Amino acid sequence: MSARLVLGIETSCDETAAAIVADEGPGTPVRLVSSVVAGQAELHAEYAGVVPEIASRAHVGALLPVVRRALSEAGVGVEGLHAVAVGHRPGLIGSLLVGVSAAKGLAWSLDVPLLGVDHVHAHLYAGLLSPHACGDRADRAPRALAAPSDPYPALGLVVSGGHTALYVLRAPTELTRIGATIDDALGEAFDKAATILGLPHPGGPNLDALASRPGANGRAVRLPIARLGRDSLDMSFSGLKTALLYAVRGTPGRGTVGPQGYERSEADLTDAARRDFAASFQRAAVEAVMLKLTRALDRFESLAGAPCRTVLTGGGVTANSLLRRRLMEFGNEHAVPVIVPEPALCVDNAAMIAGLGVELLRAGHKADLTLSPVPTTAC
Ligand code: KG4
Ligand code: ZN
Repeated sequence: MSARLVLGIETSCDETAAAIVADEGPGTPVRLVSSVVAGQAELHAEYAGVVPEIASRAHVGALLPVVRRALSEAGVGVEGLHAVAVGHRPGLIGSLLVGVSAAKGLAWSLDVPLLGVDHVHAHLYAGLLSPHACGDRADRAPRALAAPSDPYPALGLVVSGGHTALYVLRAPTELTRIGATIDDALGEAFDKAATILGLPHPGGPNLDALASRPGANGRAVRLPIARLGRDSLDMSFSGLKTALLYAVRGTPGRGTVGPQGYERSEADLTDAARRDFAASFQRAAVEAVMLKLTRALDRFESLAGAPCRTVLTGGGVTANSLLRRRLMEFGNEHAVPVIVPEPALCVDNAAMIAGLGVELLRAGHKADLTLSPVPTTAC
């Protein structure tokens, strides 16, 4: 069979992205052909977070140039496309609307199938895209185990800015959520911790960079790791964030700084203290995730009815240097292949949308022109 090219479109938050993947037939890995991402970080920097109205307006301006670039980098015209996949849930409603409207227009005018893809589920597909089908080659030391050609049933871990959850996957399109954060998503906690430490937006990568400086001591400050009961696969990061806030600024009401009467300001931190706080937060946050991942792997067979063949991971925080290291160690300790996407595919991108779109097409799913943006995930 000649390759079928699928265009992916992603506009759920503040990245405008388009990608082309090639489907060379059932049983073959989906091949990434081109992937273009236009970020908006500088538009949101002064607000230290994404402003939905600014994001959706920026998508309107950026989307068609990004789609054109993805096509030209792939060396194809629109007439060469066999389907259009779009991340239609979850996300900011105005942002999703831009991508969904463009995808519907393209699919209708080209008379090709339209596919609605869940963005959170797509994060778990990013690491399976060939030519990087064995995860991040740079980070995966020779010790790391190769992914089997059929990775399912798999244990899934998504850690992004909006979502943090564990899944049992029986197939790329068949997922059951087995645990999730009960408050902040992990990326959101990193971003808030960065703000507490006075670091600029985007917080997560800046905190990672600071915590990775030579001399940074992840054990300098004791911060809590939420266990939520002996059997729970849920996670919680808001207590960790508040503990960091109080460690940095002192108890509210006891001093005179700011309307809450903190004892200190983050501006009083020495460079060494800021670095140690960053490393201590990062260590506690990553250990909290690893604790739940270990529990989930222990329980996998009873939940899935079969042993775990692979651990699939994805979402912006899988770009974190400490988490990547710990995931690789976890794979080796438990003798299970752990797939971590290459850094560019951890954060939001359209390659993962197009890739999961191929799997939906292979499984016989198609959307129609009633496809609507939905702010929440399916599960
Ligand atoms: O998956 P993503 O691009 O967007 C959502 O679907 O939410 O994830 C973005 C999140 C942000 O919170 C960002 O700070 C975090 O991923 N992130 C990181 C790192 N790179 C991105 N967090 C910690 N360390 C990093 N290196
Ligand atoms: Zn995402």
